[in-house]
Amino acid sequence: MDYKEIIAERIKENVDLELDFIKGLIEIPPKPEMGDYAFPCFQLAKTLRKAPNMIAEELKSKLDKEYFEKIENLGPYLNFFVDKAAFTKDTLEKVLKEGENYGKSELGKGKNVVVEFSSPNIAKPFHVGHLFSTSVGNALYKIISSQGYNCTRINHLGDWGTQFGKLISAYKRWCDEDSLHKDPIKELLRIYVKFHEEAEKDPSLDEEGRMYFKKLEDGCEEEVALWKKFKDLSLREFKKIYDLLNVEFDSYAGESFYSDKMDAVVDEIDKTGILVDSNGAKVVMLDDYNLPPCIVKKSDGATIYATRDLTAAIYRKKTYDFDKCIYVVGLDQSLYFRQIFATLKLMGKDWVDSCVHVGFGLVRFADKKLSTRKGDVIFLEDLLNRAIERTLEIINEKNPELENKEEVAKKIGVGAVIFTYLKNNRERDIVFDWNEMLSFEGETGPYVQYSYARGKSILRKAPAGISENVDYSKLSSKEEFELIKILHGFNKAVLSAINKLEPFIVTRYVIDAAKAFNKFYNAHSIINAEDEGVKAARIQLVKASCQVIKNGLNLLGIDVVEKM
Ligand code: ARG
Repeated sequence: MDYKEIIAERIKENVDLELDFIKGLIEIPPKPEMGDYAFPCFQLAKTLRKAPNMIAEELKSKLDKEYFEKIENLGPYLNFFVDKAAFTKDTLEKVLKEGENYGKSELGKGKNVVVEFSSPNIAKPFHVGHLFSTSVGNALYKIISSQGYNCTRINHLGDWGTQFGKLISAYKRWCDEDSLHKDPIKELLRIYVKFHEEAEKDPSLDEEGRMYFKKLEDGCEEEVALWKKFKDLSLREFKKIYDLLNVEFDSYAGESFYSDKMDAVVDEIDKTGILVDSNGAKVVMLDDYNLPPCIVKKSDGATIYATRDLTAAIYRKKTYDFDKCIYVVGLDQSLYFRQIFATLKLMGKDWVDSCVHVGFGLVRFADKKLSTRKGDVIFLEDLLNRAIERTLEIINEKNPELENKEEVAKKIGVGAVIFTYLKNNRERDIVFDWNEMLSFEGETGPYVQYSYARGKSILRKAPAGISENVDYSKLSSKEEFELIKILHGFNKAVLSAINKLEPFIVTRYVIDAAKAFNKFYNAHSIINAEDEGVKAARIQLVKASCQVIKNGLNLLGIDVVEKM
């Protein structure tokens, strides 16, 4: 619980000032006999036209005392003494009663949210940027849904465009069927790269590519079948990654889904009177927004990426009637999304104000070896599998007797990768450092998971029946109270993450909870506590801490392990 917040709210009920302003005035008194918090009334004297002492005295009698042992006035100050026992009891009983639902609410009931994330490109590797989008998007989905919003996950696959004509041409010329079935993305990438090399020498290849794309657009059987084959093979590979990550989607409506819906939108833009000719291309001028024009049709009449996004936005509004539509896409596309949103605005789609581009930074590697695989692409399965393998090595060293080692290594290894993505403000660039990421110490996924497993191991040793009639006032130490305060603040962290569309607020929260839990664990005996009452209360605290850490990690898309 944020006591400052509670105090500020209660004062606000009685005086007309901004909450944050009141909060800023609250002090921590220098001596314990002056209470846990103090509020100086000087600042209110002007507004209320009364002496500060009088204000303090009056407020004292008016303020709601819940969660406070007492509130006293001392001259111009109001001193607050926190009722720790009541607070502790309420908090822990709530966590234990609500269990998996602790932290959830119905705040967003009846509201629709669309989260578009991941969105890799067919026939191309799923790269670290897509994993960034996947981690952030999946976490946002879970965080937002936890507050009762009706949330739809969309994977806007990059499965349409002139490049597929080129790929068909490359396939017909150089594809090796065996390699294609063994490692589809690798083979498709190989022939695609080769196509570009060859086209440098022989420009007629580009012409051929365009011709095949035209056939594809016109629905010619052979081309459609090939395109579908590339798509199925690619999806098969992507699904492996989604399975590892435990990520699902409600819709895979990617770019191709809009191929037959774009003409109507282009017509609509035209009818609005904002479509102009620019060297043969059809564009929307965005000078009023200080943006470069948005190209809607290329000079050869072909639609592009932007045409599909305009169509997709309109389709989503119609289909999902969203209150918010979130695009989790790298910051390198910021300008692009501003163009899309501005164009929709010019079309009179005022709902575009509820569309947000949730951007994220770049990914780098501390370990050069991983970043320099052919063509500078990191194959994501390699990254995840390597995280799992290295975790397994660590487990073999630390706890060779552990059951289900592979399963545990998978949850920890994958969790460590996701955690790294979600640890900081998403706009910040990330550096993957194996040693740091997989360390059981420091602010890492394994550290948090280890804290949970540690708690669970205590609970396995707890005597049966100990959790009846617990006297929570036994939890009176500084470490215990700090931990309880954090456990109390879970929902607040989740709401703040939604407000800012920043999963890292939840990540920081679980780190803080794990740290406070370990401080408590290191400072006090739990199973070996001498006093039975103390032992029982501490066990409840361990139980509640595990529950909250688990709920927090789940919102990030990370599983816990019971033993490690
Ligand atoms: N497929 C794109 C890429 O890999 C990302 C798609 C982003 N979403 C969108 N609606 N444009 O860069």
